[in-house]
Amino acid sequence: MATPDSKPVRHFLSLLDLSPAELRKLVKRATELKQILRSGELYEPLKNQTLGMIFEKSSTRTRISFEAGITQLGGHALFLSSRDTQLGRGEPIEDSARVISRMVDCVMIRTFEHEKVELFAAHSQAPVINALTDLLHPCQLLADMQTYFEHRGDIAGKTVTWVGDGNNMCHSYINAARQFDFKLNIACPKGHEPNNDILQAAGDRCQIIHKPIEAASGADLVVTDVWASMGQEEEQRQREITFADYQVNDAVMAETQPDALFMHCLPAHRGEEVTASVIDRPDSVVWDEAENRMHSQKALLEMLLCS
Ligand code: CP
Ligand code: NVA
Repeated sequence: MATPDSKPVRHFLSLLDLSPAELRKLVKRATELKQILRSGELYEPLKNQTLGMIFEKSSTRTRISFEAGITQLGGHALFLSSRDTQLGRGEPIEDSARVISRMVDCVMIRTFEHEKVELFAAHSQAPVINALTDLLHPCQLLADMQTYFEHRGDIAGKTVTWVGDGNNMCHSYINAARQFDFKLNIACPKGHEPNNDILQAAGDRCQIIHKPIEAASGADLVVTDVWASMGQEEEQRQREITFADYQVNDAVMAETQPDALFMHCLPAHRGEEVTASVIDRPDSVVWDEAENRMHSQKALLEMLLCS
């Protein structure tokens, strides 16, 4: 467990918190850890270590992948819902961070405002992992990159097309384009563009091409996400109208490279952002992508806690 006189802790709040070399190493290690697990070999470097998992939003993949992952590494996970802790009753984030991080070895947080995870991290003596905020979802990108590398090799120099909202996933794809050196075409409706600072920082690697058919031209990977993210449920009806033309369907996939992959962080809404014909293809990689959440986060926990 971290103590006040330990070396400075490293957090993972954004893909930009690791260097491109560290990210590549992590993705490679994720595949190794997957092979170790499949071989039946026990690998428990985190014995007696505890991961605190703070959830202020729903989750299937993130909770299960972190909980199963740390168990496989020999450690233990604590599920902390804001409904059942003092966090939900207004205990200051700074105080919660000081207290929780004195008892656990790592903290994973899923919340609304990105500033909350930054504030928590600033007062935590244990590493903090961003498990999704309204701004970013970096853990999903570790899994997506691992999945691309496993199926198609290096993503450097490839073309990725994002179709849909300029949301937390889109922002993390922009950061991934910087860190893994690929080109990103973003097809989003006017008024739903990604954060301009995040976009500008990526330079000419990322461009907005509003029409999905044009943005998908020659793509090696097409990615989408729900039209209304968690916290935007009341906008669902309006978004169904605004995003009606922002669907990954057979016509969009016909514009890509013949061996292009399709990814979706899930949960998916068939008939909205993606058709069943695209997501349910026999060779769809979305299930590998979901499973890789666990392997890549094991690599992340190992990097943050063992080095
Ligand atoms: N992709 C993802 O983060 O899924 P959950 O919301 O189920 O955790
Ligand atoms: N953009 C989605 C991602 C879910 C994993 C959301 O924030 O709800």
